[in-house]
Amino acid sequence: MSTRSHGVQDMTIPSIPTRGRTLDYAAPVYDFLEPLFLLMKQAEYDLTLINVLDPRPSDTILDLGCGTGVLCRMIAERLQPELGGSVTGIDAAGKMIEVARKKRGAPHCRFEAMAAEHLLFDDETFDAVVSSLFFHHVPLDLKKLSLQEAFRTLKPGGKLIVADMHKPTTFMGWLVSHVSRWFFMQPQIGENIRGVLPDLMVEAGFPPPRTVAQYFGYITVFATSKPQ
Ligand SMILES: C[S@@+](CC[C@H](N)C(=O)[O-])C[C@H]1O[C@@H](n2cnc3c(N)ncnc32)[C@H](O)[C@@H]1O
Repeated sequence: MSTRSHGVQDMTIPSIPTRGRTLDYAAPVYDFLEPLFLLMKQAEYDLTLINVLDPRPSDTILDLGCGTGVLCRMIAERLQPELGGSVTGIDAAGKMIEVARKKRGAPHCRFEAMAAEHLLFDDETFDAVVSSLFFHHVPLDLKKLSLQEAFRTLKPGGKLIVADMHKPTTFMGWLVSHVSRWFFMQPQIGENIRGVLPDLMVEAGFPPPRTVAQYFGYITVFATSKPQ
């Protein structure tokens, strides 16, 4: 633990063991890199997710693989803590959680080091679970487990919004997907671009998801809900 000059304590947060690709090494520069990956359309992309999520002020919301917490903080702005509204971002990379807490933490915008495949929350805790660009970081069995955990921790009727790499819809999308899969040597991307996510959501208990938006020819935004 280190102590900053004004007395606030900076905790070193240990990462959580997982077979997912965690991004501890990228945490200090992630906020500069992500807008580039999203072709400077990050704000528009995040806003799409929030509009699909359409949170009520009193909702409790979970973000899987939250990174540095940009989306969580935008969601938090729509919530009213005095009505019980809160958002929790989890990420297995301790360094991501350190940055998220420091830059975007608030009493109703919390960040925890946790693996999405093993959530430390009770059943039926959340009104909505959201996830952006997380599932292409974990192998097939962890994609399955993470969706099962999302289902378990959602309240009946709770929403699931997943934005991630999926079957490419344009030539550029195809090129970016396949180059990323081989450049980063990431078979988990290969699973996504073969189109596994909707079936895994159904396997976890969700109705077949709707495609609500597509970005850059390689990111699809899915929405579904846990049955009542
Ligand atoms: C590409 S980043 C996405 C971050 C953020 N959601 C966004 O849209 O910018 C993927 C994140 O998933 C995290 N991650 C990888 N495996 C994980 C796991 N098993 N559980 C939770 N987070 C994990 C990584 O550390 C990384 O921060």
